[in-house]
Amino acid sequence: MTPATPDKLPLRNSGDILLVRQTVRAKAVELGFTLVDQTKIITAASELARNTVDYGGGGVVAIETLVDGSRKGLRLSFEDQGPGIPDLTLAMKDGWTSGSGLGLGLSGAKRLMSDFSITSKVGEGTKVVITRWK
Ligand SMILES: Nc1ncnc2c1ncn2[C@@H]1O[C@H](COP(=O)(O)OP(=O)(O)OP(=O)(O)O)[C@@H](O)[C@H]1O
Ligand SMILES: [Mg+2]
Repeated sequence: MTPATPDKLPLRNSGDILLVRQTVRAKAVELGFTLVDQTKIITAASELARNTVDYGGGGVVAIETLVDGSRKGLRLSFEDQGPGIPDLTLAMKDGWTSGSGLGLGLSGAKRLMSDFSITSKVGEGTKVVITRWK
């Protein structure tokens, strides 16, 4: 698998989230994802970008194109140095929110993608990596 040079974008506010959505859409189109897949990827990206801004105190997202033989994929890595998540099992549950959200962002993003991984350390931050293969 050969990851190309990732695009790294900041995530500090709603304007940044919009730019991430547009960049992810352009990459997904360029890779030839179907309209349905594009929508899934953009939806997952929006949820995680929003979490990075709202709970992580801002961060960055790396956008990578993956090539594995004839297979292509898109990988997005969201990283923040925020408060971290004390209970990941709870945070991944449908409907659980520490705020006033619907509690569907993390679980929804997991369902929409081929791969999903989350690591978080209280006091250090959170990293969520999602991949969608064609
Ligand atoms: N980057 C992060 N840093 C710290 N806590 C986070 C982060 N991302 C998610 N969380 C925690 O995990 C919980 C669940 O996140 P999830 O996105 O599933 O739901 P939500 O953001 O609360 O609501 P929704 O996304 O449906 O509007 C959040 O309420 C928050 O407590
Ligand atoms: Mg959320």
